[in-house]
Amino acid sequence: MYGLVNQAMKDLVLERFGESRWTEICSGASCPTDDFELMKSYPDALTYGLVGSASRVLQVDAGVLLEQFGEYWIRFTAEKGYGELLLLFGKDFQSCLRNLNHMHARMGAMMPELQPPRFLVEEEAPGKLLLKYFSKRAGLAPMVVGLLRGLAQRHGNQVSIVHHARQEGQDHECFSITIHA
Ligand code: HEM
Repeated sequence: MYGLVNQAMKDLVLERFGESRWTEICSGASCPTDDFELMKSYPDALTYGLVGSASRVLQVDAGVLLEQFGEYWIRFTAEKGYGELLLLFGKDFQSCLRNLNHMHARMGAMMPELQPPRFLVEEEAPGKLLLKYFSKRAGLAPMVVGLLRGLAQRHGNQVSIVHHARQEGQDHECFSITIHA
């Protein structure tokens, strides 16, 4: 994944747990560098390695860390100058969700090696959405939960999110989202 992702992980750990923990996490992941170039693509194994090592060093479940990371990502990208881009693709939570593919496609224009996720949104009832998440990568569903929570928060919405267990043969993950008035 792009260095922007690894840098966000680093900033999150530095902010919440401090430098010595981050150093431990890096050596646990045999990370060759922690001087990430934001616009350079790194092997996915490096990012997964950092998450695994962080889970061991901090003794926190990897899913919990990924969820926290997802929430943090919304703030981090805004601080890195991508907040306007997000707003450009939706002035409220629902329209932002419906435009996630377009938004990532726009990122792809700046990041040629981007392998973005794909989302489908269905409205089941007013304020009740079903989100389908497609990815080439495994195990990132908890990150989606955090991303959704962070995105909703950014738009001043309270949401409940349920991640449904993946059915056999299903090529995507499903989330029910309830937007509270
Ligand atoms: C301005 C805000 C955002 C920016 C700049 C951004 C950009 C990116 C970038 C650079 C990656 C790494 C992909 C790669 O290197 O191949 C990524 C991955 C991802 N993004 Fe976004 N993103 C944003 C917001 C969101 C939001 C709001 C969601 C969902 C609610 C989302 C869902 C994901 C997921 C799930 C991944 C992990 C990759 C995968 O599933 O295969 N992103 N994004």
